[in-house]
Amino acid sequence: MNTVTINPQEVDLAYRAAMRRFASTVTIITAADHERHHGMTATAVTSLSMNPPSLLICLNQKTLLHDIMYRARRFCVNVLHRDQVALSAAFSGGAGSAERFEMGEWSFTEEGGPYLADAQANLFCKKGAAIPYGTHTIFVGEVEQVGLRDAISPLVYQDGAYCVASPAA
Ligand SMILES: Cc1cc2nc3c(=O)[nH]c(=O)nc-3n(C[C@H](O)[C@H](O)[C@H](O)COP(=O)(O)O)c2cc1C
Repeated sequence: MNTVTINPQEVDLAYRAAMRRFASTVTIITAADHERHHGMTATAVTSLSMNPPSLLICLNQKTLLHDIMYRARRFCVNVLHRDQVALSAAFSGGAGSAERFEMGEWSFTEEGGPYLADAQANLFCKKGAAIPYGTHTIFVGEVEQVGLRDAISPLVYQDGAYCVASPAA
């Protein structure tokens, strides 16, 4: 193992390098306010607790979804399947807001929130706390409803690339 002592100036680079070693499931977070709906690719999604069933997501404050989330009451975490790389690319800046929803099978909740009908899973959340920290805001979601697609084969992001997970030897 290559253990190094780093000075503060090097922490940013080393932190990025360390984060490349996280294998994270790729999701598209969606939400709607009174005027518009939107969605963006996110891997900063973490289980928070089972009682109540809850999760947290971290959104950059500069994103459009962040604006919408401040007014939205609910949001959805759509877990992507390994064959949905193109959707992830579109929802991370590859396509404009309206154009994003022209790809994939999108449905809408009664409140107008979009969800991906053929996602690996849909976690429908009521927005709980919103905690700003640095450039991002942590949003807590209380899971109200879940949709599941049978075969478990999520899209994973690791070392700056899309991957698939397989059982360890
Ligand atoms: C694999 C991947 C994961 C991402 N995860 C996050 C995330 O967790 N939070 C975040 O704020 N941005 C994340 N991004 C960046 C946003 O998807 C990207 O900035 C997007 O363009 C923002 O949406 P907007 O174009 O509607 O503002 C991620 C991008 C990729 C490709």
